[in-house]
Amino acid sequence: MADRRFDIVLFGATGFTGQLTAEYLARNAPGQARWALAGRNRAKLEAVRDRLASINPACARLELLTADVTAPHTLTGIAESARVVITTVGPYLTYGEPLVAACAAAGTDYVDLTGEPEFVDTMYLRYHEQAKKSGARLVHACGFDSIPYDLGVYFTVRQLPDDQPIHVDGFIRAGGAPSGGTVASALGAMGRLRQAQAVARARRRAEEKPRDRTVRVVAGKPHRNSVAQAWVLPMPTIDPQIVARSAAVLEQYGPRFTYSHYAAFRRLPVAVGTAAGTALVAAVAQIPQARKLLGKLREPGDGPDPDTRARGWFTARFHGVANGRSVITEVSGDRDPGYEETAKMLSESALCLAFDDLPPTAGQVTTAVAMGDALIERLRKAGISFTVLEKPPAHPPSRPRR
Ligand SMILES: NC(=O)c1ccc[n+]([C@@H]2O[C@H](COP(=O)([O-])OP(=O)(O)OC[C@H]3O[C@@H](n4cnc5c(N)ncnc54)[C@H](OP(=O)(O)O)[C@@H]3O)[C@@H](O)[C@H]2O)c1
Repeated sequence: MADRRFDIVLFGATGFTGQLTAEYLARNAPGQARWALAGRNRAKLEAVRDRLASINPACARLELLTADVTAPHTLTGIAESARVVITTVGPYLTYGEPLVAACAAAGTDYVDLTGEPEFVDTMYLRYHEQAKKSGARLVHACGFDSIPYDLGVYFTVRQLPDDQPIHVDGFIRAGGAPSGGTVASALGAMGRLRQAQAVARARRRAEEKPRDRTVRVVAGKPHRNSVAQAWVLPMPTIDPQIVARSAAVLEQYGPRFTYSHYAAFRRLPVAVGTAAGTALVAAVAQIPQARKLLGKLREPGDGPDPDTRARGWFTARFHGVANGRSVITEVSGDRDPGYEETAKMLSESALCLAFDDLPPTAGQVTTAVAMGDALIERLRKAGISFTVLEKPPAHPPSRPRR
Protein backbone atom coordinates (compact mmCIF):
# COMPACT_ATOMS: atom_id res chain seq x y z
CA MET A 1 0.00 0.00 0.00
CA ALA A 2 2.79 2.43 0.85
CA ASP A 3 3.95 2.33 -2.77
CA ARG A 4 0.60 3.61 -4.10
CA ARG A 5 0.89 6.98 -5.85
CA PHE A 6 -1.93 8.57 -3.87
CA ASP A 7 -3.34 8.34 -0.38
CA ILE A 8 -6.77 9.39 -1.65
CA VAL A 9 -8.39 9.71 -5.09
CA LEU A 10 -11.73 11.52 -5.35
CA PHE A 11 -13.78 10.09 -8.26
CA GLY A 12 -16.71 12.28 -9.38
CA ALA A 13 -14.91 15.49 -8.43
CA THR A 14 -16.86 17.44 -11.08
CA GLY A 15 -20.35 16.62 -9.69
CA PHE A 16 -22.31 18.69 -7.20
CA THR A 17 -21.31 16.75 -4.07
CA GLY A 18 -17.94 15.84 -5.57
CA GLN A 19 -16.98 19.53 -5.84
CA LEU A 20 -18.01 20.21 -2.23
CA THR A 21 -15.94 17.21 -1.16
CA ALA A 22 -12.96 18.48 -3.17
CA GLU A 23 -13.31 21.89 -1.48
CA TYR A 24 -13.43 20.26 1.95
CA LEU A 25 -10.25 18.31 1.20
CA ALA A 26 -8.56 21.44 -0.19
CA ARG A 27 -9.24 23.20 3.13
CA ASN A 28 -8.70 20.31 5.53
CA ALA A 29 -6.50 17.51 4.15
CA PRO A 30 -3.17 17.48 5.99
CA GLY A 31 -0.23 18.91 4.05
CA GLN A 32 1.42 15.50 3.67
CA ALA A 33 -1.69 13.91 2.11
CA ARG A 34 -1.14 12.91 -1.51
CA TRP A 35 -4.52 13.23 -3.17
CA ALA A 36 -5.88 13.55 -6.72
CA LEU A 37 -9.08 14.41 -8.59
CA ALA A 38 -10.71 11.94 -10.97
CA GLY A 39 -13.62 12.18 -13.39
CA ARG A 40 -14.64 11.52 -16.96
CA ASN A 41 -14.13 15.03 -18.33
CA ARG A 42 -10.61 16.53 -18.24
CA ALA A 43 -11.72 20.12 -18.97
CA LYS A 44 -14.22 20.02 -16.08
CA LEU A 45 -11.54 18.57 -13.78
CA GLU A 46 -9.17 21.41 -14.72
CA ALA A 47 -11.87 23.97 -13.86
CA VAL A 48 -12.40 22.29 -10.46
CA ARG A 49 -8.64 22.31 -9.80
CA ASP A 50 -8.43 26.04 -10.67
CA ARG A 51 -11.18 26.77 -8.15
CA LEU A 52 -9.44 24.68 -5.49
CA ALA A 53 -6.19 26.55 -6.11
CA SER A 54 -7.96 29.78 -5.14
CA ILE A 55 -8.82 28.12 -1.79
CA ASN A 56 -5.42 26.51 -1.27
CA PRO A 57 -2.58 27.38 -3.71
CA ALA A 58 -0.99 23.93 -3.22
CA CYS A 59 -4.01 22.46 -5.03
CA ALA A 60 -2.71 23.89 -8.32
CA ARG A 61 -0.40 20.85 -8.34
CA LEU A 62 -3.16 18.25 -7.83
CA GLU A 63 -2.99 15.45 -10.39
CA LEU A 64 -6.03 14.83 -12.59
CA LEU A 65 -7.03 11.28 -13.56
CA THR A 66 -9.56 10.61 -16.29
CA ALA A 67 -11.74 7.56 -15.87
CA ASP A 68 -15.19 6.54 -17.06
CA VAL A 69 -17.52 3.98 -15.53
CA THR A 70 -18.20 2.62 -19.01
CA ALA A 71 -14.47 1.74 -19.43
CA PRO A 72 -13.74 -0.49 -16.40
CA HIS A 73 -9.95 -0.64 -17.08
CA THR A 74 -9.79 3.10 -16.26
CA LEU A 75 -11.28 2.32 -12.85
CA THR A 76 -8.70 -0.41 -12.31
CA GLY A 77 -6.10 2.31 -12.92
CA ILE A 78 -7.66 4.49 -10.21
CA ALA A 79 -8.02 1.64 -7.71
CA GLU A 80 -4.41 0.53 -8.21
CA SER A 81 -3.06 4.07 -7.82
CA ALA A 82 -4.72 4.86 -4.47
CA ARG A 83 -4.84 3.66 -0.86
CA VAL A 84 -8.40 5.01 -0.50
CA VAL A 85 -10.90 5.88 -3.25
CA ILE A 86 -13.83 8.23 -2.59
CA THR A 87 -16.65 8.09 -5.11
CA THR A 88 -19.53 10.52 -5.57
CA VAL A 89 -20.50 9.06 -8.96
CA GLY A 90 -24.16 8.16 -8.56
CA PRO A 91 -26.87 6.92 -8.81
CA TYR A 92 -24.78 4.03 -7.52
CA LEU A 93 -27.24 1.42 -8.82
CA THR A 94 -26.47 2.76 -12.29
CA TYR A 95 -22.77 3.66 -12.05
CA GLY A 96 -21.36 2.19 -8.85
CA GLU A 97 -20.46 -1.47 -9.40
CA PRO A 98 -17.33 -1.29 -11.62
CA LEU A 99 -15.43 0.80 -9.07
CA VAL A 100 -16.39 -1.48 -6.16
CA ALA A 101 -15.16 -4.41 -8.28
CA ALA A 102 -11.87 -2.63 -9.04
CA CYS A 103 -11.26 -1.73 -5.36
CA ALA A 104 -12.14 -5.23 -4.10
CA ALA A 105 -9.67 -6.71 -6.61
CA ALA A 106 -6.88 -4.22 -5.86
CA GLY A 107 -7.24 -4.31 -2.03
CA THR A 108 -8.07 -0.59 -2.05
CA ASP A 109 -10.24 1.03 0.62
CA TYR A 110 -13.47 2.50 -0.77
CA VAL A 111 -16.01 5.03 0.55
CA ASP A 112 -19.21 6.25 -1.08
CA LEU A 113 -22.47 8.12 -0.45
CA THR A 114 -25.03 5.57 -1.47
CA GLY A 115 -28.37 5.36 0.29
CA GLU A 116 -29.59 2.62 -2.09
CA PRO A 117 -30.08 -0.66 -0.14
CA GLU A 118 -30.21 -2.78 -3.32
CA PHE A 119 -26.77 -1.51 -4.36
CA VAL A 120 -25.21 -2.22 -0.95
CA ASP A 121 -26.71 -5.73 -0.76
CA THR A 122 -25.67 -6.57 -4.33
CA MET A 123 -22.12 -5.38 -3.63
CA TYR A 124 -22.09 -7.53 -0.48
CA LEU A 125 -23.11 -10.63 -2.41
CA ARG A 126 -20.60 -10.03 -5.22
CA TYR A 127 -17.51 -8.50 -3.57
CA HIS A 128 -17.50 -9.00 0.22
CA GLU A 129 -15.57 -12.28 0.15
CA GLN A 130 -13.10 -11.01 -2.46
CA ALA A 131 -12.50 -7.82 -0.45
CA LYS A 132 -11.94 -9.84 2.74
CA LYS A 133 -9.16 -11.70 0.92
CA SER A 134 -7.62 -8.62 -0.72
CA GLY A 135 -7.89 -6.54 2.50
CA ALA A 136 -10.09 -3.83 0.96
CA ARG A 137 -12.48 -2.07 3.35
CA LEU A 138 -15.65 -1.30 1.37
CA VAL A 139 -17.53 1.31 3.39
CA HIS A 140 -20.83 2.46 1.88
CA ALA A 141 -23.11 5.25 3.11
CA CYS A 142 -20.43 7.61 4.47
CA GLY A 143 -22.63 10.72 4.28
CA PHE A 144 -25.86 11.91 5.89
CA ASP A 145 -26.92 8.37 4.97
CA SER A 146 -25.88 6.82 7.41
CA ILE A 147 -23.09 8.28 9.55
CA PRO A 148 -25.21 10.26 12.08
CA TYR A 149 -27.23 7.11 12.88
CA ASP A 150 -24.51 4.49 12.61
CA LEU A 151 -22.08 6.45 14.77
CA GLY A 152 -24.89 7.98 16.87
CA VAL A 153 -26.16 4.56 17.94
CA TYR A 154 -22.56 3.36 18.46
CA PHE A 155 -21.97 6.40 20.71
CA THR A 156 -25.26 5.71 22.57
CA VAL A 157 -24.69 2.03 23.33
CA ARG A 158 -21.25 2.87 24.67
CA GLN A 159 -22.97 4.84 27.47
CA LEU A 160 -24.85 1.66 28.52
CA PRO A 161 -23.82 -1.69 30.03
CA ASP A 162 -22.94 -4.21 27.32
CA ASP A 163 -24.18 -7.28 29.19
CA GLN A 164 -27.88 -6.28 29.06
CA PRO A 165 -30.46 -6.25 26.24
CA ILE A 166 -30.43 -2.77 24.66
CA HIS A 167 -33.14 -0.95 22.71
CA VAL A 168 -32.39 2.32 20.92
CA ASP A 169 -34.84 4.69 19.22
CA GLY A 170 -33.34 7.18 16.73
CA PHE A 171 -35.20 10.41 15.81
CA ILE A 172 -34.02 12.57 12.93
CA ARG A 173 -34.96 16.18 12.22
CA ALA A 174 -33.30 18.08 9.37
CA GLY A 175 -33.62 21.10 7.11
CA GLY A 176 -32.17 21.11 3.59
CA ALA A 177 -32.88 20.61 -0.12
CA PRO A 178 -31.88 17.76 -2.51
CA SER A 179 -29.45 17.77 -5.48
CA GLY A 180 -30.06 16.28 -8.94
CA GLY A 181 -28.02 13.20 -8.09
CA THR A 182 -30.03 12.60 -4.91
CA VAL A 183 -33.37 12.96 -6.69
CA ALA A 184 -32.23 10.52 -9.42
CA SER A 185 -30.94 8.00 -6.87
CA ALA A 186 -34.08 8.17 -4.69
CA LEU A 187 -36.43 7.79 -7.67
CA GLY A 188 -34.34 4.95 -9.09
CA ALA A 189 -34.44 3.08 -5.77
CA MET A 190 -38.20 3.70 -5.33
CA GLY A 191 -38.81 2.22 -8.80
CA ARG A 192 -37.05 -1.05 -7.85
CA LEU A 193 -38.56 -1.98 -4.48
CA ARG A 194 -39.30 -5.60 -5.49
CA GLN A 195 -35.76 -6.14 -6.83
CA ALA A 196 -34.36 -4.60 -3.64
CA GLN A 197 -36.40 -6.98 -1.46
CA ALA A 198 -35.20 -10.00 -3.48
CA VAL A 199 -31.53 -8.99 -3.08
CA ALA A 200 -32.07 -8.29 0.64
CA ARG A 201 -33.48 -11.84 1.06
CA ALA A 202 -30.49 -13.31 -0.82
CA ARG A 203 -28.16 -11.39 1.48
CA ARG A 204 -29.95 -12.60 4.61
CA ARG A 205 -29.49 -16.19 3.43
CA ALA A 206 -25.78 -15.66 2.69
CA GLU A 207 -24.76 -13.52 5.67
CA GLU A 208 -23.43 -15.10 8.85
CA LYS A 209 -25.57 -14.29 11.92
CA PRO A 210 -23.92 -13.33 15.22
CA ARG A 211 -23.48 -16.30 17.56
CA ASP A 212 -25.23 -16.15 21.00
CA ARG A 213 -26.59 -12.63 20.29
CA THR A 214 -29.62 -11.28 18.47
CA VAL A 215 -29.98 -8.06 16.50
CA ARG A 216 -33.24 -6.78 15.08
CA VAL A 217 -34.65 -3.67 13.41
CA VAL A 218 -38.14 -2.97 14.83
CA ALA A 219 -40.43 -0.87 12.63
CA GLY A 220 -42.05 1.48 15.16
CA LYS A 221 -45.45 3.14 14.95
CA PRO A 222 -46.27 6.82 14.38
CA HIS A 223 -46.71 8.53 17.77
CA ARG A 224 -45.97 11.63 19.87
CA ASN A 225 -42.60 11.04 21.57
CA SER A 226 -41.49 12.82 24.73
CA VAL A 227 -37.74 12.27 24.18
CA ALA A 228 -37.88 13.62 20.63
CA GLN A 229 -40.41 16.25 21.80
CA ALA A 230 -42.02 15.71 18.42
CA TRP A 231 -44.38 13.62 16.33
CA VAL A 232 -42.42 10.69 14.96
CA LEU A 233 -42.93 8.48 11.89
CA PRO A 234 -41.08 5.22 11.18
CA MET A 235 -38.48 5.82 8.44
CA PRO A 236 -37.62 2.71 6.39
CA THR A 237 -34.40 4.07 4.84
CA ILE A 238 -31.05 2.28 4.60
CA ASP A 239 -29.99 3.72 8.00
CA PRO A 240 -31.55 1.11 10.33
CA GLN A 241 -30.06 -1.66 8.18
CA ILE A 242 -26.60 -0.15 8.57
CA VAL A 243 -27.11 0.25 12.35
CA ALA A 244 -28.11 -3.43 12.59
CA ARG A 245 -24.99 -4.51 10.66
CA SER A 246 -22.76 -2.66 13.11
CA ALA A 247 -24.69 -4.23 16.01
CA ALA A 248 -24.24 -7.70 14.52
CA VAL A 249 -20.45 -7.31 14.56
CA LEU A 250 -19.76 -5.31 17.74
CA GLU A 251 -20.32 -6.92 21.15
CA GLN A 252 -20.86 -3.49 22.80
CA TYR A 253 -24.43 -3.57 21.44
CA GLY A 254 -25.26 -6.25 24.02
CA PRO A 255 -26.73 -9.76 23.88
CA ARG A 256 -30.12 -8.64 22.48
CA PHE A 257 -30.14 -5.42 20.47
CA THR A 258 -33.13 -3.74 18.80
CA TYR A 259 -33.32 -0.45 16.94
CA SER A 260 -36.23 1.70 15.66
CA HIS A 261 -35.64 4.59 13.27
CA TYR A 262 -37.95 7.61 12.99
CA ALA A 263 -38.32 10.95 11.26
CA ALA A 264 -39.37 13.60 13.81
CA PHE A 265 -41.60 16.66 13.27
CA ARG A 266 -42.49 19.43 15.70
CA ARG A 267 -45.93 19.94 14.12
CA LEU A 268 -48.47 17.22 13.37
CA PRO A 269 -49.67 18.70 10.02
CA VAL A 270 -46.06 18.68 8.73
CA ALA A 271 -45.68 15.01 9.76
CA VAL A 272 -48.95 14.07 8.05
CA GLY A 273 -48.09 16.11 4.93
CA THR A 274 -44.61 14.54 4.68
CA ALA A 275 -45.99 11.01 5.06
CA ALA A 276 -48.66 11.64 2.41
CA GLY A 277 -46.17 13.33 0.04
CA THR A 278 -43.64 10.50 0.36
CA ALA A 279 -46.30 7.85 -0.24
CA LEU A 280 -47.51 9.75 -3.32
CA VAL A 281 -43.99 10.12 -4.80
CA ALA A 282 -43.27 6.41 -4.11
CA ALA A 283 -46.50 5.43 -5.89
CA VAL A 284 -45.84 7.70 -8.88
CA ALA A 285 -42.21 6.47 -9.08
CA GLN A 286 -43.52 2.99 -9.99
CA ILE A 287 -44.41 4.40 -13.46
CA PRO A 288 -41.24 4.79 -15.59
CA GLN A 289 -42.51 7.82 -17.57
CA ALA A 290 -43.60 9.63 -14.38
CA ARG A 291 -40.21 8.83 -12.84
CA LYS A 292 -38.51 10.53 -15.77
CA LEU A 293 -40.67 13.63 -15.38
CA LEU A 294 -40.05 13.82 -11.62
CA GLY A 295 -36.30 13.46 -12.29
CA LYS A 296 -36.43 16.68 -14.31
CA LEU A 297 -37.21 18.63 -11.11
CA ARG A 298 -33.43 18.65 -10.50
CA GLU A 299 -30.90 17.96 -13.28
CA PRO A 300 -27.60 16.10 -12.62
CA GLY A 301 -24.96 18.56 -11.39
CA ASP A 302 -27.59 20.86 -9.89
CA GLY A 303 -28.14 21.35 -6.14
CA PRO A 304 -28.99 23.80 -3.35
CA ASP A 305 -27.19 27.17 -3.60
CA PRO A 306 -24.79 28.41 -0.87
CA ASP A 307 -27.49 30.49 0.91
CA THR A 308 -29.86 27.52 1.11
CA ARG A 309 -26.99 25.32 2.28
CA ALA A 310 -26.04 27.85 4.96
CA ARG A 311 -29.57 27.60 6.40
CA GLY A 312 -29.39 23.79 6.60
CA TRP A 313 -29.09 21.83 9.88
CA PHE A 314 -29.76 18.41 11.39
CA THR A 315 -30.22 16.75 14.77
CA ALA A 316 -30.33 13.01 15.33
CA ARG A 317 -31.49 12.23 18.87
CA PHE A 318 -31.17 8.75 20.39
CA HIS A 319 -32.89 7.16 23.37
CA GLY A 320 -31.11 4.04 24.56
CA VAL A 321 -32.55 1.75 27.25
CA ALA A 322 -30.80 -1.19 28.92
CA ASN A 323 -32.58 -2.98 31.73
CA GLY A 324 -34.30 0.14 33.05
CA ARG A 325 -31.27 2.42 32.65
CA SER A 326 -31.70 5.00 29.95
CA VAL A 327 -29.55 7.52 28.11
CA ILE A 328 -30.39 10.31 25.67
CA THR A 329 -27.76 11.44 23.18
CA GLU A 330 -27.68 13.74 20.18
CA VAL A 331 -25.60 14.09 17.01
CA SER A 332 -26.01 17.45 15.28
CA GLY A 333 -24.62 19.73 12.62
CA ASP A 334 -25.39 23.33 11.72
CA ARG A 335 -24.86 23.17 7.94
CA ASP A 336 -26.78 21.59 5.09
CA PRO A 337 -26.88 17.88 6.01
CA GLY A 338 -27.01 16.35 2.51
CA TYR A 339 -24.12 18.32 1.03
CA GLU A 340 -21.86 20.42 3.28
CA GLU A 341 -22.05 18.08 6.27
CA THR A 342 -22.01 15.11 3.89
CA ALA A 343 -18.84 16.37 2.15
CA LYS A 344 -17.29 16.67 5.62
CA MET A 345 -18.37 13.16 6.71
CA LEU A 346 -17.22 11.56 3.44
CA SER A 347 -13.84 13.32 3.42
CA GLU A 348 -13.17 12.59 7.11
CA SER A 349 -14.06 8.93 6.52
CA ALA A 350 -11.45 8.73 3.74
CA LEU A 351 -8.85 10.58 5.83
CA CYS A 352 -9.62 8.27 8.76
CA LEU A 353 -9.08 5.13 6.65
CA ALA A 354 -5.92 6.60 5.14
CA PHE A 355 -4.20 7.95 8.26
CA ASP A 356 -5.71 6.64 11.53
CA ASP A 357 -4.81 3.64 13.61
CA LEU A 358 -7.92 1.44 13.19
CA PRO A 359 -8.97 -2.08 14.16
CA PRO A 360 -8.14 -4.63 11.44
CA THR A 361 -11.23 -5.15 9.23
CA ALA A 362 -11.85 -6.03 5.57
CA GLY A 363 -14.77 -6.70 3.24
CA GLN A 364 -18.02 -4.72 3.32
CA VAL A 365 -17.95 -2.96 6.70
CA THR A 366 -19.89 -0.11 8.31
CA THR A 367 -18.44 3.18 9.55
CA ALA A 368 -18.92 2.10 13.19
CA VAL A 369 -17.10 -1.20 12.63
CA ALA A 370 -14.29 0.13 10.44
CA MET A 371 -13.68 3.49 12.14
CA GLY A 372 -15.82 3.92 15.30
CA ASP A 373 -14.21 6.23 17.87
CA ALA A 374 -11.54 7.54 15.50
CA LEU A 375 -14.17 8.86 13.10
CA ILE A 376 -16.30 10.33 15.92
CA GLU A 377 -13.20 12.18 17.13
CA ARG A 378 -12.52 13.53 13.63
CA LEU A 379 -16.13 14.64 13.12
CA ARG A 380 -16.18 16.38 16.50
CA LYS A 381 -13.07 18.34 15.54
CA ALA A 382 -14.78 19.18 12.24
CA GLY A 383 -17.81 20.68 14.04
CA ILE A 384 -20.33 17.82 14.24
CA SER A 385 -21.32 17.37 17.86
CA PHE A 386 -21.85 14.07 19.68
CA THR A 387 -23.43 14.89 23.05
CA VAL A 388 -24.87 13.00 26.00
CA LEU A 389 -28.01 14.96 26.97
CA GLU A 390 -29.09 12.75 29.85
CA LYS A 391 -26.84 10.19 31.48
CA PRO A 392 -27.87 6.92 33.11
CA PRO A 393 -27.06 6.79 36.84
CA ALA A 394 -23.65 5.24 37.56
CA HIS A 395 -25.38 2.35 39.36
CA PRO A 396 -28.96 1.18 38.96
CA PRO A 397 -31.10 2.90 41.65
CA SER A 398 -31.54 0.60 44.64
CA ARG A 399 -35.06 -0.57 45.43
CA PRO A 400 -36.85 1.54 48.08
CA ARG A 401 -37.06 -0.32 51.41
CA ARG A 402 -40.45 -1.22 52.75
N1 LIG B 1 -26.68 9.71 1.15
C1 LIG B 1 -26.25 10.94 1.24
O1 LIG B 1 -26.10 11.42 2.31
C2 LIG B 1 -25.94 11.67 -0.03
C3 LIG B 1 -25.69 13.03 -0.04
C4 LIG B 1 -25.34 13.65 -1.23
C5 LIG B 1 -25.27 12.89 -2.40
N2 LIG B 1 -25.54 11.58 -2.35
C6 LIG B 1 -25.44 10.73 -3.56
O2 LIG B 1 -24.26 11.05 -4.25
C7 LIG B 1 -24.46 10.83 -5.63
C8 LIG B 1 -24.01 12.08 -6.39
O3 LIG B 1 -24.94 13.11 -6.19
P1 LIG B 1 -24.70 14.52 -6.90
O4 LIG B 1 -25.89 15.36 -6.69
O5 LIG B 1 -23.37 15.03 -6.51
O6 LIG B 1 -24.68 14.06 -8.45
P2 LIG B 1 -24.15 14.83 -9.73
O7 LIG B 1 -23.95 16.27 -9.46
O8 LIG B 1 -25.06 14.43 -10.83
O9 LIG B 1 -22.70 14.17 -9.97
C9 LIG B 1 -22.55 12.91 -10.55
C10 LIG B 1 -21.08 12.72 -10.91
O10 LIG B 1 -20.97 11.46 -11.58
C11 LIG B 1 -20.19 11.66 -12.75
N3 LIG B 1 -20.51 10.66 -13.78
C12 LIG B 1 -21.70 10.42 -14.35
N4 LIG B 1 -21.56 9.42 -15.25
C13 LIG B 1 -20.26 9.04 -15.22
C14 LIG B 1 -19.50 8.07 -15.92
N5 LIG B 1 -20.04 7.28 -16.86
N6 LIG B 1 -18.18 7.94 -15.63
C15 LIG B 1 -17.61 8.72 -14.71
N7 LIG B 1 -18.27 9.68 -14.01
C16 LIG B 1 -19.59 9.82 -14.28
C17 LIG B 1 -20.52 13.07 -13.21
O11 LIG B 1 -19.51 13.53 -14.10
P3 LIG B 1 -19.73 14.84 -15.05
O12 LIG B 1 -19.52 16.02 -14.16
O13 LIG B 1 -18.68 14.67 -16.08
O14 LIG B 1 -21.14 14.77 -15.58
C18 LIG B 1 -20.50 13.78 -11.85
O15 LIG B 1 -19.17 14.04 -11.47
C19 LIG B 1 -25.94 10.49 -5.81
O16 LIG B 1 -26.07 9.07 -5.90
C20 LIG B 1 -26.58 10.97 -4.53
O17 LIG B 1 -27.73 10.26 -4.16
C21 LIG B 1 -25.88 10.95 -1.21
